[in-house]
Amino acid sequence: MTQARTPTDWHPASWQSRPAAQQPTYRDRVHLETVLAQLSQLPPLVTTWEVENLKSKLAAAQRGEAFLLQGGDCAENFEETTSENVVTKLKILLQMSLVMLVGLKKPIIRVGRMAGQYAKPRSADYETKDGVSLPSYRGDIINRPAFTAVDREPDPTLMLRGYERAALTLNFVRSLIDGGFADLHHPENWDLAFVGESAAAAEYHALVQSVSDSLGFFEAMTGEPLHSTHRVEFYTSHEGLHLPYEHAQTRFLKHRGHWYNLTTHFPWIGMRTADLAGAHIEYFRGIANPMGVKIGTSVSDEQLQQLVHVLNPNNEPGRLTLITRFGAKQVEAHLPRVIKAVRATGASVLWVCDPMHGNTETTAEGYKTRRFDNIRAELRSAFRIHQEQGSHLGGVHLELTGENVTECIGGARGLKESDLARAYKSQVDPRLNYEQAMEIAMLIAGRLHTQD
Ligand code: PEP
Ligand code: CO
Repeated sequence: MTQARTPTDWHPASWQSRPAAQQPTYRDRVHLETVLAQLSQLPPLVTTWEVENLKSKLAAAQRGEAFLLQGGDCAENFEETTSENVVTKLKILLQMSLVMLVGLKKPIIRVGRMAGQYAKPRSADYETKDGVSLPSYRGDIINRPAFTAVDREPDPTLMLRGYERAALTLNFVRSLIDGGFADLHHPENWDLAFVGESAAAAEYHALVQSVSDSLGFFEAMTGEPLHSTHRVEFYTSHEGLHLPYEHAQTRFLKHRGHWYNLTTHFPWIGMRTADLAGAHIEYFRGIANPMGVKIGTSVSDEQLQQLVHVLNPNNEPGRLTLITRFGAKQVEAHLPRVIKAVRATGASVLWVCDPMHGNTETTAEGYKTRRFDNIRAELRSAFRIHQEQGSHLGGVHLELTGENVTECIGGARGLKESDLARAYKSQVDPRLNYEQAMEIAMLIAGRLHTQD
């Protein structure tokens, strides 16, 4: 397999000579340097064999032989790194992946937006309230949400706290998985009451039955429970936004001859930081991890072709994932054009649909929300358009939680605008709740029809 060579004009700090968007200003440089020096000595959170293993799985998805399920919170926060939150998030992703496996009949690659999703891009550097301007809250790894000068001051120590939270999360995820937490062979225990509310209830029940039957068959054949014969693999991802943090955990692995970002398996470049001349692209082009790039309506064909060339000059399989997020209304206008633009480069990428970020709206009461119908519509269009273009959709990128929140409108349970106040917890973007996320998994499994 052709593995990209480290570009000769690159080193882990070369991003510093480029304009870096979405970065905080640390006033105490000495404190910053001390923290970064510590971070660069701490053990890595992930290993290169896991990273390379994921890359080969993504290469399979690129060939149409696997499907990526990437999901989790818009932003994790330190306070909510609780046992329950980690368990419910892992559980929903595992359950979704099982439904998708049975429906799509191909391996599902599970990647959490987890164990490091602590930095957020903001539309403005400052927030003003009652005539007072303070730095915007940029995520728990950078500053604190309360609107006081002390809380909003970027604090380098938070990078260490973030590293630790990520390590605690990963440690728990690994133990749960090793301990056989993947209690997937009892779908009858899943919380599927909402299924009854749906017009497609009969199909849902048939799907769940078929999950159960498939697992029963597998276990009867092998004589062992599923989790002990087939270890579940789980990978982490986050937006590689806060470059000092990413940089500090970037290591050269002699036996591989490459630099890796070892804070996560799969970092991605957000839509606001994909400028070709910017620091983020400079940083990402030199690391050997598989990587994603978010693609919105403003991307031009040339820009996209350049991105493909700069980030994956050797057309390495599994290296580059393009995550499109156009919105239900714009997907028809943009997806065919970007598929053609990438095809013209001769390079292969993994195409993933993020049906969340192009479908955000604000209600009259000021809640940021997303309509389940729009999420479903964009996803459906993406499947169809790829097929029409002789391409294929190889994965989905979702903001979801295993909890019973009320942040997105719609779904089988029919959440309304007036329900949002009941359990709206996200500080940032609205997430699918457990039922809505399961419903999307069922849609992907191909069992959900247009009429419901
Ligand atoms: C996100 O994934 O939370 C996000 C900010 O996405 P985008 O960069 O696509 O807007
Ligand atoms: Co988001």
